[in-house]
Amino acid sequence: MIHLGGAVIQAVYIVTILLVMLGIMRLRTPATARSGNLLAAFGMLLALLVTAITVPLANWLLMVLMLLAGATVGTWAARAVRMTAMPQMVALFNAMGGGAAALVALGVSEGIVLGGGLPPPMVSIPGSFTVLIGAISLSGSTVAFLKLQELIKGRPTVFPGQRWLQAALVAVALAAAVLAVIGRPWGAALPLVVLAGVATVLGILLVLPVGGADMPVIISLLNSLTGLAAAATGFVLGNAVLIVAGSLVGASGTILTQLMSRAMHRPIGHVLFGAFRTGPATAATSQEGEVRETGSEEVATMVAYAGRVVIVPGYGLAVARAQQQVRDLMVALEGRGVDVRFGIHPVAGRMPGHMNVLLAEADVPYDRLYEMDAINPEFARTDVVLVIGANDVTNPAARNNPESPIYGMPILEVDQAKTVIVLKRSMASGFAGVDNPLFSMAKTRMLFGDAKDSLTALLAALKEVS
Ligand code: TAP
Repeated sequence: MIHLGGAVIQAVYIVTILLVMLGIMRLRTPATARSGNLLAAFGMLLALLVTAITVPLANWLLMVLMLLAGATVGTWAARAVRMTAMPQMVALFNAMGGGAAALVALGVSEGIVLGGGLPPPMVSIPGSFTVLIGAISLSGSTVAFLKLQELIKGRPTVFPGQRWLQAALVAVALAAAVLAVIGRPWGAALPLVVLAGVATVLGILLVLPVGGADMPVIISLLNSLTGLAAAATGFVLGNAVLIVAGSLVGASGTILTQLMSRAMHRPIGHVLFGAFRTGPATAATSQEGEVRETGSEEVATMVAYAGRVVIVPGYGLAVARAQQQVRDLMVALEGRGVDVRFGIHPVAGRMPGHMNVLLAEADVPYDRLYEMDAINPEFARTDVVLVIGANDVTNPAARNNPESPIYGMPILEVDQAKTVIVLKRSMASGFAGVDNPLFSMAKTRMLFGDAKDSLTALLAALKEVS
């Protein structure tokens, strides 16, 4: 252990806090996001090193090994995981954050208990809170990961008596938390272990009934829970960096959750308990109505002579990695005097800002991107809409069909345009697993195939249009 003065440690912590705040502020635009990320990471590294060298009785070998293992896995994941799998990775990292916070709180409280004493209220109250929230976040985020990775079905899962089971578990968890704080009659250790177990089951039951269009909101909520758990761990350890960094994550996660549930017109209560009221979402049925297919030459002629084309990107664009081809199409059409705009839905893709990041990668100028509320009134004045790998975010059933599991979710009103061209590989449904009546409307043409191949063929055909 190295003896740094308390003032030096606090000064380094303050530098870390400032760097993290500056980093988060720079995440606001793509131009400064990269440097913001590096600043915040550097701040965390500083805090980690200062904490490590001042820990009494530190097991240096173990700490260095853990640091190396964490850095290796993190670097590998950031480089190897595909852009489309980022949300799953974030869910996994979130699970680890919640789990780590719960384990630290358990470890500190158990250490004090095994040392013969009872944790003081300053430790036991935030400690119990951390174990509860951290364990919920660990198991809830793991279920979210399994759903996003399609290792379990993404639809809401409900079973008879689920709500009663949840209510009973909440009661047991609260009782265990109170017993852990007062330390009688079983001391603090046993109630804390019970609390951790019950909270883990609660986390699973929290996310299982959520599915489809509500997943982004629950992921954001879990993110804010992990932040709160980290902040509470800061109180357990008396560590200012953890308190501030955890509060920042908790607060920004809460704001994002609110923004998303407002953008999706889904009150948070509906997200958490909607499946109980409506039952599990019905599976996609076979698509009704006639589906009209088209080819790249026909689409090239339509867009070449259009006054305005709106491009609606979705998850499939990310899967096909066709962002460069989309930009080339924009340039080619603008060269012909066509007004080209992009309509961005707040939950298109699989993570907040997914489409913005994707299009920024291909240097699509930001002023061509229109948010849902700005582009919706424009569709009636649009000649052709190109829906590229998007499905749920354009589904008119969300507006017209009260029976639909996505009813009430705001959509991009592409069906108001004169012609709609949908680029996708098949008639398969999107994330929410529901049919899309847009595909069989008289004004819609389907251009089947991988989005990158279809766009490449479209660009070639466009060159032939005089
Ligand atoms: P989806 O509704 O998931 O539809 C994507 C479509 O892309 C699919 O129907 C698929 O049809 C097509 N596709 C896949 N690979 C393709 C390829 N290589 N080439 C061409 N098409 C391809 O996507 P969306 O419209 O972006 O909606 C997002 C959904 O995800 C919403 O339900 C949202 O709630 C949910 N969600 C969003 C987030 C966030 S924060 N954005 C997080 C979790 C969940 P084919 O298989 O027929 O090609």
